[in-house]
Amino acid sequence: MTGRFITVEGGEGAGKTTQLAFLRESLERVGHRVLLTREPGGTPLGEAIRTLLLGHRHDGMALATETLLMFAARAEHLERVIRPALAAGCWVLCDRFTDATYAYQGGGRGLPAARIAVLEDWVQGSLRPDWTLLFDLPIEVGLARAGRRGAADRFEREDWAFFERVRATYLERAGREPDRYRVVDADRPMATVRAEVETLLAGWLERG
Ligand SMILES: Nc1ncnc2c1ncn2[C@@H]1O[C@H](COP(=O)(O)OP(=O)(O)OP(=O)(O)O)[C@@H](O)[C@H]1O
Ligand SMILES: [Mg+2]
Repeated sequence: MTGRFITVEGGEGAGKTTQLAFLRESLERVGHRVLLTREPGGTPLGEAIRTLLLGHRHDGMALATETLLMFAARAEHLERVIRPALAAGCWVLCDRFTDATYAYQGGGRGLPAARIAVLEDWVQGSLRPDWTLLFDLPIEVGLARAGRRGAADRFEREDWAFFERVRATYLERAGREPDRYRVVDADRPMATVRAEVETLLAGWLERG
């Protein structure tokens, strides 16, 4: 039996990584094998690309370069990690995926969604996440949380309008695909968010 592919999305500091750890526990508790991974990254080459993308050594890289690097890392991730895991029956939990490309390179930086769709079809074929949690919260709350964690990466240094466009793009995509997306108000205490995620997960699992 093939596993399910679950992705977690949202702005900086929304609590994606925190809630993914909880989600993993919930799934393992009911007997699923779980692979937790992230984008950009998830493979040695992908993590090297992540360093190029998030670091400041290549500030001002072209938007096409940035987008192609995202998909280069994704191609590697799919081929070496995600597809094999799903085929082996593992449930794959991924911290950001292609929705983030639509939100950041598309909404944030203005790359037409149709360009991203071409790469998505090429690199992924028909593979899409089965379920996506979008952690939504005001920009200032997320940045304050992320800021406590250390130096800002290449995306965290963007201006306010950029983050507003990212957030709006995520919400718009979630609105268009209500079957796949669940939007979670992430501006609440960790335990409250966790409880809602568990409720949503139970509802989704029940649907089969
Ligand atoms: N609901 C919450 N309320 C308050 N603080 C939280 C909440 N969820 C997570 N945090 C804290 O906020 C910080 C960012 O959380 P986390 O790393 O999970 O966010 P993220 O969405 O993965 O961020 P990034 O996009 O930067 O990877 C952490 O210090 C975490 O402990
Ligand atoms: Mg994170």
